[in-house]
Amino acid sequence: MKLSDSVTLRGKLIKNRIVMPPMATNYASEDGGVSERMINYYSRKALGGPGMVIVEATLVKEGGSGWHNQLSIDRDELVPGFRTLASKVREKGAIALLQLFHAGRQTFTEKVAVAPSAISCPVCSKETRELHGEEVLEIEDAFADAARRAMEAGFDGVEIHGAHGYLISQFVSPLTNHRTDEYGGSLERRMRFPVNIIRKVREAVGEKAILSYRMNADEFVPEGVDISMGREIARIIAQESVDLIHVSAGLYEAFFNAELMAQFKKKYGIYRHLAREIKSDIPIPLIAVGKLDKPGTAREVLQQGEADFVAVGRGILTDDEWPKKALAGRDDEIVYCIYCDVCNYHKYDCPI
Ligand SMILES: Cc1cc2nc3c(=O)[nH]c(=O)nc-3n(C[C@H](O)[C@H](O)[C@H](O)COP(=O)(O)O)c2cc1C
Repeated sequence: MKLSDSVTLRGKLIKNRIVMPPMATNYASEDGGVSERMINYYSRKALGGPGMVIVEATLVKEGGSGWHNQLSIDRDELVPGFRTLASKVREKGAIALLQLFHAGRQTFTEKVAVAPSAISCPVCSKETRELHGEEVLEIEDAFADAARRAMEAGFDGVEIHGAHGYLISQFVSPLTNHRTDEYGGSLERRMRFPVNIIRKVREAVGEKAILSYRMNADEFVPEGVDISMGREIARIIAQESVDLIHVSAGLYEAFFNAELMAQFKKKYGIYRHLAREIKSDIPIPLIAVGKLDKPGTAREVLQQGEADFVAVGRGILTDDEWPKKALAGRDDEIVYCIYCDVCNYHKYDCPI
């Protein structure tokens, strides 16, 4: 498989295998909706040539924001802004997905965080309380309502954010889910929350929409998800009506662990091994991510069948035209990310 290979998913032509993964910009307008600045930013990124743009983590329900100025789609009145955003991305030739998000305990903004269990995130240090059963159902429904709004706005599909230690992955991980009801216990029971969300979202978006699920294949912390559990998680997800599995990793305890991050700084293709293992288990297309911006690495991942798509995040942040240049083999014209990670750590309280 090559970067330039097109593919059709749910009847939608994706012109190449390059994905711009979701990256929070903090460009939302005051009401949490889409701003002019955001529309210009995504138009530019789509013009750079990726086959798919996954618009950043977007809040599905009040009380679940992760950082300041986060984009929201928790109300019908916000749909018109998203309509402009989706149409701008699509008119530049990319498929547009919207990522749906709830922070759970990993919040820098909520006074009291909600989570599967009353276990605070050691990085955010917020008072955290356990969600009761009815609230869990309300959040499942909020994901479905948000997905419906995204479709009304003209997106080609949605991505459920089940990674990076936010609410959905808190339910999946044995580190953060100590519940004794039907949402806790064995992996199958901890997967009830994401599986319910997938089913409700599919029902809300219909059969024509692309549904991606972003998962953690490893949390890099003791007692958290490891790759063998990650493989099980992927198998369960792949049995549902999901079109893409987006294999990511980590949570705040790992992202704010200087030693681990120093190791990641030294290498490229940091989650490649995780994608490779999961790819061998599942029949549905997989997106790999994690420092794949050396075009040679991205090409190799596809050629070796480790993934069906490559997501390039900070690479595209640094150079809008990364996709066009990589597709044309103009590798030496790419302005490469130096991985200082200022974008990543400043996003919590100011625009990227
Ligand atoms: C500024 C910034 C914001 C991000 N925001 C999100 C987000 O909204 N949702 C998400 O799932 N991942 C988010 N990520 C993670 C990226 O999608 C991606 O997985 C990560 O940067 C690794 O890919 P890369 O090495 O190509 O940058 C963000 C990363 C950065 C740098």
